[in-house]
Amino acid sequence: MSIYFDNAATTAKKPKEVAEAVYQTLLSGEYGNPARGSHDYSLNSFRTVAAVREQIKELVSAPATYEVVFTNNASTSLNMMLKGLIKPNAHVITTSWEHNAVLRPLYQLVATQNVTLDIIESDEITGHLRVSDIEDKITDETTTIVVDHGSNVTGNIIDLEEIKEIAQKYKLTLIVDGSQTMGQYPISLADGVIDAFCFTGHKSLYGPTGTGGICLKRELEKELVPLLTGGDGMQSFSKTQPQELPVLLEAGTMNVAGIRGLSAGIDYVNSLGVASIHEHLLNLSNHFVSGIKDLSNVQLYGQFNAKRCGVVSLNIIGIDSATVSDCLWEDYGIAIRPGYHCAPLMHEALGTKEHGTLRFSFSSFNTLEEVDIAINAISELSKEVDE
Ligand code: ALA
Repeated sequence: MSIYFDNAATTAKKPKEVAEAVYQTLLSGEYGNPARGSHDYSLNSFRTVAAVREQIKELVSAPATYEVVFTNNASTSLNMMLKGLIKPNAHVITTSWEHNAVLRPLYQLVATQNVTLDIIESDEITGHLRVSDIEDKITDETTTIVVDHGSNVTGNIIDLEEIKEIAQKYKLTLIVDGSQTMGQYPISLADGVIDAFCFTGHKSLYGPTGTGGICLKRELEKELVPLLTGGDGMQSFSKTQPQELPVLLEAGTMNVAGIRGLSAGIDYVNSLGVASIHEHLLNLSNHFVSGIKDLSNVQLYGQFNAKRCGVVSLNIIGIDSATVSDCLWEDYGIAIRPGYHCAPLMHEALGTKEHGTLRFSFSSFNTLEEVDIAINAISELSKEVDE
């Protein structure tokens, strides 16, 4: 028997309805290319995709002023927003929590569009983000704030309310990376402050890989430059992508089977409730932390007296995280992700640049019994260092 604790990378275990939805879409022979015809095959897909847009808007309480576009994953969503909204010479503020899906597009904009960048720092060990520094960095050229909602390294949750206040006060565009929170932490776009909320389908929404999207303000269609251009099923003689959402960001044939699978994943999340999934993940995380926090040689990273998602990072001091991860897999059958988690600045801030961290990340399918096995494994491995 093996135990899967790498759910921040992707939820390997899905509800069976997700697989059935994908399979049924492909097997039925009833799903054509959406918006490419007026026959039932095309309309089946078009109507399905439209219904899933509404399902997602409902999940995040997005008002009618928002639109949902589908992408392949959160990296695509973030690239579309950063490269599509940030103008040459703009000043952008982001954080040291960010994934390379944010950092690399921003570095590219710095290199090619004369964009300037300030990165808000975090504290060692806890990863606490110094949100109050944001206001000090704002200049006349600042146009955009980009923040990670939940850290994929520490599990810390950002204080979005404070950031929304700053964005509103200075009339800045606010882009949020919800890769780790969508489906497992309550999110509300109801107040209309967040401009674009980027998400993936294959993590805590339990959908298939290759699904994701953006819930964004419809008014952004006026200024957005599309990352991809191509067929959209309408205005075939136009030399440019139609400047209207969602087609502005949906060039090419959509992943209809994947989107139906994603819809089944969201049904599953709704059947349990985001709040109760969050509570379950916190119970697992707290139980894990209580079981290992007093072990000699174990260092935990993150803020444990604050809001969190279902991610716990730690090290057995002095041993490279990849070595411990291999032992966890080979000797205990426990799958986790070691290393740097594509978040280099977070590891620099935590002080884990040399060895990375062991990241345990939980899903609704994990149990306290599985966590007990992990506690025992960490306990035994940490003792080996003493011997
Ligand atoms: N971004 C994913 C992770 O944190 C892949 O593992």
